[in-house]
Amino acid sequence: MFISIIMGGNHIGTKINLVALSGSIRKQSSTQKTLHSLKHFMPEKVDYGIYNVIENLPHFNPELDGDEPPEEVQVYRELLSGADGVIICTPEYIKGVPGVLKNALEWLVSSAELYTKPVAVITASGNGENAHHSLQLNLSMLNANVFEGGTLLISGADSKLNGDGEFVKSEVTASLKLLISKLIEEINKEKSY
Ligand SMILES: Cc1cc2nc3c(=O)[nH]c(=O)nc-3n(C[C@H](O)[C@H](O)[C@H](O)COP(=O)(O)O)c2cc1C
Repeated sequence: MFISIIMGGNHIGTKINLVALSGSIRKQSSTQKTLHSLKHFMPEKVDYGIYNVIENLPHFNPELDGDEPPEEVQVYRELLSGADGVIICTPEYIKGVPGVLKNALEWLVSSAELYTKPVAVITASGNGENAHHSLQLNLSMLNANVFEGGTLLISGADSKLNGDGEFVKSEVTASLKLLISKLIEEINKEKSY
């Protein structure tokens, strides 16, 4: 399932399509809340959706990755293929990227949907430094475009969110806002080539 949060106005031909992936499948998670909070910073011309069934992807197995991969994988790949940019938000689990997200990224090795695509990376975790670094390594292997200004580490994320799932500290919201504007800037740069 793909939850589209924002439908932009009538900007046929100029719309920007952003797809987000969450490294936590806990529905009330800090990561999911962070991705939902981003809707406030999206310009009208952006369609923003969260692919929130990452757990339905089968365990990556090269033997399944033939001419006809599993249907869920095909849907996931098509969604990313149509995206102008991607936002990945993750917590840290045992000093790295949660298995469910790593698995989702492994499905993109042969099909290369993230190849040169602008990808913004947010780690929202207890500490998170290791996952933040590790995810960027994973993305470099996929040749994703993790551009300058396109990464944000939010340590202690849980304590910075209020009951409505919004960040209470203005420096966090300012950083998220800046991250989104940099992502859109990067996409527009690529589109103008
Ligand atoms: C199994 C497990 C392992 C964790 N390992 C780490 C870790 O290595 N480093 C860290 O900073 N936080 C770690 N945490 C804390 C989580 O990153 C933190 O609770 C985060 O907010 C969970 O994300 P979520 O709220 O989006 O589900 C771990 C949590 C769990 C459940």
